Amino acid sequence: MAFSQGFIEELKMRNPIEDVVSRYVDLKRAGRNMVGRCPFHSEKSPSFTLFSDHFHCFGCSAGGDVITFVMRIENLDYPDAVNFLADRCGMTVPDDRKYFTKTEKPKLTRERGFAMNKAAARIFYENLKDPDAAEAREYISKRQLSASTVKHFGLGFAKNSFIDLFEKLTALGYTLDEIKANFLCGVSQKTNRPFDMFRNRIMFPIIDTSGNIVAFGGRVMDDSKPKYLNSSDTVVFKKSKNLFALNFAKDLLLGNVKSELVKSGEIILCEGYMDVIAMHQAGFCNAVATLGTAVTPEHSRIVARYAKTAYLAYDSDDAGKKAADKAIRLLGEVGVETKVIKINGAKDPDEYIKKFGVASFSTLLSDSVGQIDYRLNNILVKFDLANPDEKLRALRECCDMLSGIFSDIKRDIYIQRLSELTGIKQDSIASQIKSSKRHTEKKMNEHMNTENQKKLLHFNDRVNPDAVTCPAAVEIEERILGILMLFPEQFSKCDSVTPDDFVSSFNKSVFEKLSELYGGETTDISSLNEFFNPEQMSRIYDMRQRRTELTSNGIAALNEQIASLKREKTRLEAKKNKVGTNDELQSMIERIRKDKGLE
Ligand code: CTP
Ligand code: MN
Repeated sequence: MAFSQGFIEELKMRNPIEDVVSRYVDLKRAGRNMVGRCPFHSEKSPSFTLFSDHFHCFGCSAGGDVITFVMRIENLDYPDAVNFLADRCGMTVPDDRKYFTKTEKPKLTRERGFAMNKAAARIFYENLKDPDAAEAREYISKRQLSASTVKHFGLGFAKNSFIDLFEKLTALGYTLDEIKANFLCGVSQKTNRPFDMFRNRIMFPIIDTSGNIVAFGGRVMDDSKPKYLNSSDTVVFKKSKNLFALNFAKDLLLGNVKSELVKSGEIILCEGYMDVIAMHQAGFCNAVATLGTAVTPEHSRIVARYAKTAYLAYDSDDAGKKAADKAIRLLGEVGVETKVIKINGAKDPDEYIKKFGVASFSTLLSDSVGQIDYRLNNILVKFDLANPDEKLRALRECCDMLSGIFSDIKRDIYIQRLSELTGIKQDSIASQIKSSKRHTEKKMNEHMNTENQKKLLHFNDRVNPDAVTCPAAVEIEERILGILMLFPEQFSKCDSVTPDDFVSSFNKSVFEKLSELYGGETTDISSLNEFFNPEQMSRIYDMRQRRTELTSNGIAALNEQIASLKREKTRLEAKKNKVGTNDELQSMIERIRKDKGLE
């Protein structure tokens, strides 16, 4: 094991979970425990609960100990999370750890990463004033960026040099390993010499909501490729979790600052750096961008923390439409209402504002359509409505979509809209929607016997994908594992149970790791963080947590569960064999049908 048990124990002792968590979550006392709003999903009432040595969210089932928490909230792997906590409490990580040689990750602390980025941003900004930056200054003025915009966003210029930034950063005391780990230089494989990552580019610092510069984007000034170069993920930057300019937008979004143009709780989401900057320059300081990636689930959870409504201002091309579709879905899942801005006559918001002006862009925002209108239009444009057959198909598809709307009133509004768009009577549309609904419900009911209901509960279970096929066995397995984690001493006393008794491979691997652990010096399941990701750890802690709520965790209860797991496994195997016979039967029937020329 990489870190000794003694070290991990001391680490946890010196980093009380309450202290660590309270930096991210507003905690309030509730009886013996502390509660707050879960940082891992968006919620209004607090279901995130802190117990003495672990956390559990009753809303999204996130859970684990202080190490799991850091892994998850800072998006770090196990050794980095341990490092993070060691830094935090001033402990030295023992030198015999094999991790950093294994992953060849040079050590860069977050503090030094932030400081280095700040220094680099200052260097880039100063570069703009140099004689060799004439082209950069010209480019900036061509893009109509004012001096105050440049200053506000901290834009800068990376010189056309392989070594300029590197030398300046080394002079400030940063090592090659550190600069490389921060994505500000690479090392040539041929010559083994370091080179600046960003060269001859306009630089855009990316700043997190605490005001730290976490990364950079750099744009070429001509048509060369790649147009933008972005920092890869580093200890201080996770692309999928950052929104460009959220640091500037957040106070407006939260209503701490007022503006005439922008209502609090309304965010504009777009694709590019330049779009955001152009919008901010025009007064829409609620614009943020995902950086060269489509919206991720993490992004949408961040948006939900700051906004109720998101205006999607994506490019007017196909890629932009796809990105908007994805954003609508992901934001819908976290309860953010979406509106789509149609950018006609320009390729993106930046170009639009330059061509048509701020007032016009304002109108675009107020004309933006809700997601249902947007989806209706997307269906209708696919068909030639002059052709009766196609019109029928278009209507069917629209009705299918509308039948998914929960609220009667809302559905009525769109029935009216669809009727206006197609000239078909509202009554006919309504009855088509009814039949479409009946059809879906019938299909659902057919699948809804109890076994399937159970399976549905586990549908899409990423941690234990087997749960969908054998829910009963998984339930028993979780009881056994829960008892074993709560009362490790029963491990040696209970009836024989082996990894092979387990049906689902996830639970089997948990059992294997527990057996290893209990055979060694400790019974602290914290060390499982080394082998399982935070999502898996949540499930593991959850199994234990659920047993604490029950009283019968004695040896008799454990043995009873072991016996029932064995029975369930036998039952499943028998069933599998039976299915096998069915398969044979099925293929025989098919052969006969073929022989008879029926297919
Ligand atoms: N992007 C990227 N890498 C590229 C191209 C694009 O990371 N090679 C990201 C950038 O964040 C960029 C966004 O995708 O801002 C949108 O790309 P694009 O529409 O091509 O650029 P614009 O934002 O329109 O940039 P500009 O107006 O400067 O041409
Ligand atoms: Mn553009």
